[in-house]
Amino acid sequence: MSKVFIVTGASRGIGFAIAQALIQASHKVFLVARTEKNLQELKTQHATSVDFITADLADWKVAPKVIESTVKAFGKIDGIVVNHGVLAPITKISESSVEEWRHAYDINVFSALALVKEAIPELRKSQGRVVFVSSGAAFGAYAGWGSYGTSKAALTHLSTHLAVEEPSIISVAVSPGKVDTDMQKQIRNDGKTGMAPEVYASFVDEYKNGQFLDPKQPGDVIAKLVEGATSDLSGKYFRWNAAELANFRAS
Ligand SMILES: NC(=O)c1ccc[n+]([C@@H]2O[C@H](COP(=O)([O-])OP(=O)(O)OC[C@H]3O[C@@H](n4cnc5c(N)ncnc54)[C@H](OP(=O)(O)O)[C@@H]3O)[C@@H](O)[C@H]2O)c1
Repeated sequence: MSKVFIVTGASRGIGFAIAQALIQASHKVFLVARTEKNLQELKTQHATSVDFITADLADWKVAPKVIESTVKAFGKIDGIVVNHGVLAPITKISESSVEEWRHAYDINVFSALALVKEAIPELRKSQGRVVFVSSGAAFGAYAGWGSYGTSKAALTHLSTHLAVEEPSIISVAVSPGKVDTDMQKQIRNDGKTGMAPEVYASFVDEYKNGQFLDPKQPGDVIAKLVEGATSDLSGKYFRWNAAELANFRAS
């Protein structure tokens, strides 16, 4: 049966791949990002199953609009993929601006809290799911990635808290691995001064050697998780290719 999902950060990269996978599986999707082009293209191609808002999720006032518009467009909400996120600023703590960190937290953490809080009544009704796109950086520290890693740690723990407080909602955090998207391009373009030289070089080398994942690889798993993650996974964090998620990967 067709379900209704919100996907944030759907204008490119992993979010675009998740949206495509959900549309392919005959679900309805409500998409959010700041850039209109790809969202409009998906809506043009799939007029009855796609709707979208272009908005900056750093503005928490956007969250109620997203939830209301989804229910207005499709009548219910079965799940949310909180996928949007930013890596910037890539600077060491000693050279950081607190304002820049605060802005990164607005995007990576508080927007997620605002969206999920607003969606809880609908998700209780549907016994729905939230998948938070986390990162390995939530657990390991990379020089220069302080705002990103700590904000992803907060996001990951938000997922755990949601699971504890809302037993009818399944909440899972997933890291997608190193994926060939604009975020990785930003690391190569902007990471040289802020990151440790050997870590920066390893990202450049892995890209040159074609070792990064295609967004479709983790995107397909995340789509399947928001569609059907089971309650034993709730409150937990997984890498996209973890053994526990084998049932959510194409065989
Ligand atoms: N790529 C990797 O190797 C990797 C590794 C670990 C985790 N991740 C995580 O995976 C998720 C997707 O990343 P990606 O690699 O696909 O990055 P990406 O290509 O840079 O895409 C990020 C998406 O988030 C949206 N976004 C950013 N800021 C936003 C804002 N203020 N309001 C609304 N939307 C916003 C962007 O859309 P607009 O610019 O159009 O708003 C875009 O659709 C992120 O949470 C990232 O942290 C990625």
